[in-house]
Amino acid sequence: MKVARSVYDSGGRLLLAAGITLTENFIRHLSEMGIGSLYVEDEIFSGGVDVSGEIVPQSIRMESVKLLKETYHQAKSQRCVDTRTVQKTVDGLIDEVLSNYGTLLSFYEIRTYDDYTFNHSVDVCILSVLTGITLGYDRTKLRELGIGALLHDIGKVKVGKEILNKPGTLTPEEWQKIRRHPEDGFKILRRHQDIPLLSAHIALQHHERLDGSGYPRRLSGEEIHEYAQLVMIADVFGSLTSDRPYRKAYLVIQALDHIKSLAGKLFEKKFVAAFFSNISPFPAGTVVLLNTGRSAGS
Ligand SMILES: [Fe+2]
Repeated sequence: MKVARSVYDSGGRLLLAAGITLTENFIRHLSEMGIGSLYVEDEIFSGGVDVSGEIVPQSIRMESVKLLKETYHQAKSQRCVDTRTVQKTVDGLIDEVLSNYGTLLSFYEIRTYDDYTFNHSVDVCILSVLTGITLGYDRTKLRELGIGALLHDIGKVKVGKEILNKPGTLTPEEWQKIRRHPEDGFKILRRHQDIPLLSAHIALQHHERLDGSGYPRRLSGEEIHEYAQLVMIADVFGSLTSDRPYRKAYLVIQALDHIKSLAGKLFEKKFVAAFFSNISPFPAGTVVLLNTGRSAGS
């Protein structure tokens, strides 16, 4: 098999270029690095997979991941976060999403869970901004939403890596520590005057749930700000579609089904509908078998 789309590691280094023939060795190395899937050429989709429909180009996504790492580092060492760069990054992501809006997001990225928090947060930002555009948000609202979405988990700088990446079940004490990250995130963001208040509220409220079963304040319904309601859907979707230390990634279609089953209970139906309208249930190039017995490609 030949690689149809180049594979990069989380630092942006090229691991395998498109066009290279896969060997057992390559496959073993990739799986050791936590990369379990890639695009290959086949007789139907020869000549490479068309990635022109990407919502955000790989290079901008990687720049954003790099910036976010730096931001977490600043927050962890109690320094001030470089908010201007954060805003510039979010503006760049919004520009890309706006200019490619209308292309269905074929949510299929090669990710390693080493850098999970950063890659995941960039995904959550892109997904939330997409939903915001669908809901008719103007630039100011998209910015508030985008900044909060990108930094929603920043309170995790206070949680040890051994807890965040623990493969087994968490002890009650470890769970308590994790559950503090929304409030810690809120405090970190409130220290910065030019971070909008509503963006900080996204960090505080992204684990609340519509029926009041979330944390930290067990808010319900409209007590939860709309921005946080959009981010929580993107957050759950992004998490389900990633490999985690304790489970394998769901397929996009499975994650969408799961979220659909919770619409009206944990998530507001109209926001789930807006979110779904931008996601392609299958990666570009997938052949699906219909229940009529015929197959179809995209
Ligand atoms: Fe979180």
